[in-house]
Amino acid sequence: MKVGLVYYSRTGHTKQVIDDIAEKLNDDDHKIDIISLELASPWDASADRLPLKKLPDIQGFDCIIVGTPVHGARMAGAVRTFLEESEGLIGKEVVFLLTHLFWQGWGADQTIQQMRELCTAKGADVLGYGNVRWLGFKRNKRIQQAERKVIELLKD
Ligand SMILES: Cc1cc2nc3c(=O)[nH]c(=O)nc-3n(C[C@H](O)[C@H](O)[C@H](O)COP(=O)(O)O)c2cc1C
Repeated sequence: MKVGLVYYSRTGHTKQVIDDIAEKLNDDDHKIDIISLELASPWDASADRLPLKKLPDIQGFDCIIVGTPVHGARMAGAVRTFLEESEGLIGKEVVFLLTHLFWQGWGADQTIQQMRELCTAKGADVLGYGNVRWLGFKRNKRIQQAERKVIELLKD
């Protein structure tokens, strides 16, 4: 299966998990492509959406994993622009990967809901999500659980 991992990461948490997932998918003989979304203007915490240097072409992927930090109970502005502007989401299998600092109800759940609504409205087939709460003990265990969940969703 050809999997595109498209993500935005400001401080490296989301990148770390995405890179790990990519490595595991690679070991499972999937063809993977990691795409980091780059901003065309300075980051602005208050902006709902932010312009991208380049909109990735996702046509060739069987499935995409969309990685985002939670920013104020929303997806990252770069990720919203990517999902809103992408042409190739119709019929595409999509899995979300979120990282966030706090309990899931403090922003992550709302973000998952927004991403699900946006992707479904664009005709994507949302398979589910994995998420990592960054703060607190046993973070590595939570990372491994989220990675396993994302990979299992792709196999179903
Ligand atoms: C402006 C801003 C808003 C944030 N809002 C939330 C939030 O609503 N809920 C939460 O759990 N974490 C929130 N966070 C924390 C990030 O989601 C968390 O640190 C994430 O893992 C960062 O990912 P990154 O290193 O890939 O950028 C916020 C961080 C920033 C900078």
